[in-house]
Amino acid sequence: MDRIMKKLIAGNWKMNGSLQDACELCIAVMDKIEKNGAAVSDCEFLICPPALHIGSLLNYLKDRPDIVKVGAQDCAAYDNGAYTGEISAAMFADIGCEYVIIGHSERRHIIGEGDEIIVKKVKKAIENGLRVILCVGETQGERDKGSAKEIVAKQLEAVKIDGINSENLVIAYEPVWAIGTGNAATVDDVKKMHAFIRAKLKEMLADSDNLRILYGGSVKVDNAAQLLNIENVNGALIGGASLDAKSFVDIAKAAN
Ligand code: PGA
Repeated sequence: MDRIMKKLIAGNWKMNGSLQDACELCIAVMDKIEKNGAAVSDCEFLICPPALHIGSLLNYLKDRPDIVKVGAQDCAAYDNGAYTGEISAAMFADIGCEYVIIGHSERRHIIGEGDEIIVKKVKKAIENGLRVILCVGETQGERDKGSAKEIVAKQLEAVKIDGINSENLVIAYEPVWAIGTGNAATVDDVKKMHAFIRAKLKEMLADSDNLRILYGGSVKVDNAAQLLNIENVNGALIGGASLDAKSFVDIAKAAN
């Protein structure tokens, strides 16, 4: 199956676990994907471990290439240089990362990142050959005010920059109120928002039909079949449930 037609099943491990936990989880994920063979062959798998653990995990991943890809959870908005504590897109690309998550709601709302810095990060990621998973989504308050679409449109428009296309950009719609709460968005909400995002992308890009739009926010084995089979849902960005290899791979099975 064509890469872009495959559903992207991405695990965002966030700031969790020891190095040993990360190694064990990585191996368990690879084993489960291999064991499930045909049942998950329509999916592309990605794990985004804490940056500190990626180098060690790549030792396991390179022995069994193509089973699961690795991505970063964020990158710097700058090229290499005097930026204490930062890790550049070039560095992530250099060690073998293929993707980077940018604009996750925890970075927007806890760290305080706005569209200006997010755009700079997207540019650096693309310049360095990384594929960007750009997270967009409204807060509960914004939804209550009826401005969910307006917020998402603004976050999308911010990345209308030269060089983005369906190969190097993936959108993850993650309503902030659904992340880590156990309350995933309803099928109806996801259907409407993903159709809106698809239409918005059409205005922005020539090859928008091929761009993958993921849903994220309390995706679990129980709701995966429902959520991942909605029109314009081309995969999932999974937080909590990606920390368990069985539930991570079972979500992919439900998607098929
Ligand atoms: P969750 O997190 O699956 O734990 O809700 C999703 C995310 O933050 O990407």
